[in-house]
Amino acid sequence: MQRGQFSSRLTFVLAASGSAVGLGNIWGFPTKAAENGGGAFLLMYLFLAFLLAYPALMAELTLGRYSRSNMVSTLDSIASGWLQKRLGQLTGFIGVLTATMILCFYSIIAGWMIAHTLASIAQTLQLFKIAEWLVTFSLFRNISFSTAFIGLTLLVISAGVERGIETWSKRLMPCLILLMLGLIVYVLLQPGAERGLKMFIVPDFRQLADPQLIVSALGQAFFSLSLGVGTMLIYGSYIRSDEDLPVAGALVTFSDTGVAVLAGMLIIPALFAAQQLGVDIYAETGRLISGPSLIFQALPALFEEMGEGGKLVAIAFFTLMSIAALTSSISMLEVPVSWAIETQNVTRLKASITVGVFTVLVSGVISYKFTSIFEIIVEVTTEWAQPILSLMLCLFCGWLMHRNRLLQELKQGVPDLESSLFWLIWPTYVKIFCPLLIVIILVQSFLPLS
Ligand code: PHE
Repeated sequence: MQRGQFSSRLTFVLAASGSAVGLGNIWGFPTKAAENGGGAFLLMYLFLAFLLAYPALMAELTLGRYSRSNMVSTLDSIASGWLQKRLGQLTGFIGVLTATMILCFYSIIAGWMIAHTLASIAQTLQLFKIAEWLVTFSLFRNISFSTAFIGLTLLVISAGVERGIETWSKRLMPCLILLMLGLIVYVLLQPGAERGLKMFIVPDFRQLADPQLIVSALGQAFFSLSLGVGTMLIYGSYIRSDEDLPVAGALVTFSDTGVAVLAGMLIIPALFAAQQLGVDIYAETGRLISGPSLIFQALPALFEEMGEGGKLVAIAFFTLMSIAALTSSISMLEVPVSWAIETQNVTRLKASITVGVFTVLVSGVISYKFTSIFEIIVEVTTEWAQPILSLMLCLFCGWLMHRNRLLQELKQGVPDLESSLFWLIWPTYVKIFCPLLIVIILVQSFLPLS
């Protein structure tokens, strides 16, 4: 069967950055930064993104391009012996499942974003009743919009790598960046915004030793770069052989962290601008508000106070969120779909529809049992499964692919690889240092002092 391929480095970088840049950057990152001392969190996040997440991303991209297949088949093919193969298949399978589960909860939040975009439009058209329904939390609204969102994702994925993923990443990513820059300029000009900017940028070093901050930053770094669940692996499998992987991976890491930093410069100053207008931005605990109340109450309150212009800003903001979510969900759905195509011998259309229906059902159950299971699913998939799966991928790449195979694979795009700093450090790094660091961070979060 003919496999899809990205046509150039740019389209790969756009698609992989599209996967990486999502609600995790624009919502998750600023919210967690606001909860964990602003600048201190930013510093820890940047440190972990480059020290841990980039090498792990390289492991995934290399594995994918080497085997040119989905996560389960990749880990199976580089393993030797019964035990290793079973372990590989199991890891791959949990990866596929985790990607699907992430899509299930992600689609609910993405659905809220679409509902809020439509609500802002309804407001400008003075359709207040409809707008009210769209912004009110209800089972029916949640299920309708998460289903619509999964439907959109399905449309893109069923069109394949070039016509679906590549085309839409190329269209949506520039819109996202432009919208974001426009919003930042607007928000930073509002009174009060500079206090938020200061809080976001200036670190409070005392908070750096807080174990909760470190685990939270780790989870954020892995979630944000879409690691562990085979998204980057499958995107890696669509890269051309003569592509310079370390550079392509570095570009994705830079754009992902870049957008997270930009989002911090948008959301936290916006919060303080809202305070200036009389919106309460501190929770009862005395901490800055975060989570849904930040995005769906404080910011809309700010937009409302801004008068007529605020309505347009609200539309732009929620459109930005919806686009970011879509380019990420595309990559999540590609994980189970590519697995089904390559191992179950089904067509792309059939695979997309089957996985799509499954996701709609599971996300419906999550919506139904929202208060009791939503947070647990988020925590298990992103704070635990992603780092642990990433650890496994580093081990497979470092220990089972061996230096020679790695060298041959990467050299196709970088002929003088052996003399580069990357080659001097990375193979050992991914073999020993990354897994060790992930274990240390996860274990310390269990210790009594946390
Ligand atoms: N990286 C995406 C975000 O920041 C989320 C994601 C996780 C995408 C796992 C794919 C796989 O929102």
